[in-house]
Amino acid sequence: MTDPLTSIQSSGADARCPFQAASSAAQSSCPFHAEGSGSIPDFPPDRVDPLAPPPVYFQMQQGSGLGQAKLWDGKIAWLITRYDDVRSVLSDPRFSSDITNPGYPTVSAAMKIARGNNRTFITMDAPKHAEHRRMLTGEFSIRKIENLRPRIQAIVDKLLDDFVKMPQPSDLVSAFTLATPALVISELLGVPYEDHDFFQEQAMILTSSTATLEEAVAANHALCGEYLRELVAKRSDNPGDDILSRLIVNHVRKGDITETDVVSLARLLLIAGHETTANTTAMGLLFLLQRPDIWDELRQEPSLIPNAVEEILRFLDVTHSGKRRVASEDVVVNGQLIRAGDPVVVLSISANRDRTKFEDPDVFDLHRDSRTQVSFGYGPHQCIGQPLARLEMQIMFASLLERLPDLRLAVPVESLDFKPDSLMYGVKALPVRW
Ligand code: HEM
Repeated sequence: MTDPLTSIQSSGADARCPFQAASSAAQSSCPFHAEGSGSIPDFPPDRVDPLAPPPVYFQMQQGSGLGQAKLWDGKIAWLITRYDDVRSVLSDPRFSSDITNPGYPTVSAAMKIARGNNRTFITMDAPKHAEHRRMLTGEFSIRKIENLRPRIQAIVDKLLDDFVKMPQPSDLVSAFTLATPALVISELLGVPYEDHDFFQEQAMILTSSTATLEEAVAANHALCGEYLRELVAKRSDNPGDDILSRLIVNHVRKGDITETDVVSLARLLLIAGHETTANTTAMGLLFLLQRPDIWDELRQEPSLIPNAVEEILRFLDVTHSGKRRVASEDVVVNGQLIRAGDPVVVLSISANRDRTKFEDPDVFDLHRDSRTQVSFGYGPHQCIGQPLARLEMQIMFASLLERLPDLRLAVPVESLDFKPDSLMYGVKALPVRW
């Protein structure tokens, strides 16, 4: 792999400090050139406020728009922080999602194992990416997802019925924000919910950036090598009304993909299908519990809930690891040369707070049009599950506002544990009273 720093310096291209453009005086305090040593900080940078992105991203936005950071395996990645650059990189085929490219920046040893051994279209490029993605697009169309509304509402109602019988305080994350999307995706895939604890445990290991290689190998084997493999074999013998069965009948039997591919797709959907939605909902709830004015406004005007969900996605973007790409040829972004083979981390978390795109981006505004937020990504890999995620979150918030109007945090916000080491940012537990 080309060392981006050396190659750029030797190429004579613009290798300036990301802060230099904002102010030459800023160079001395540049965290990317700490103590003038040229050392590069680890990814992800520290947050000051657990509900706001790392401040260094804003400094980069005001500088060249690009920065660099050291990943878990020592790779030096380019960070893309501005809204317009994020959209142009994510829609540019010269930035590849191919995990087999040696420069591809995996999030952790665990994700390298999980995504490398069980490859799916999220880490493929055109034309194979589109071929595989098409097999699932019908499952997540807006119309198909809207038909799930009564079933999702029933799941939410049952979970809240059980929750209000629990002792006070109780944790809303495990009992509700995590349980809802986990139940929904389990049902869609035909995974028995009784096995939820097992797959939740494996998912936590596979999405943690601190799991050891041994732990990741073991979790991936338990989830894909054993559990999902058996499930797919069962569905193959006896297909049902679920996504895995339809993949087998419509695609495995026609020779488009293998049963092993179905196992990998099941893993992708199980993990992507609930971790993201669960963390976004929990972070949104934490925010709203600190803002009784907004909570009350939503109670009085539930038609604002879809807007609230969109603004939560923008303001509290949990995809803090970024969208991962590798340059497949030399590309210039914003005057900066990115060499073929260089790892790239595209940061919607900072793009969503770019003041050239959103007015007063650090203000949570229920009435702004946030639909241009990029938490679901952009371009060919844009999240396939977004209609489902939106519907689940709208139903969860509407039901909480209606049934638990006096919901409040049972502990000081400073005592909460966040997840800086996970693929998805989030809060581990939300002890509440109601
Ligand atoms: C708030 C919830 C969610 C967020 C923030 C989110 C975010 C994302 C992002 C940023 C990507 C693009 C990754 C990239 O460009 O490399 C993505 C892709 C994907 N998401 Fe989601 N997601 C959410 C919910 C879901 C759900 C509910 C499902 C499925 C049930 C899902 C399934 C997928 C799949 C399969 C892809 C790969 C798409 C492709 O590569 O073409 N996601 N998601």
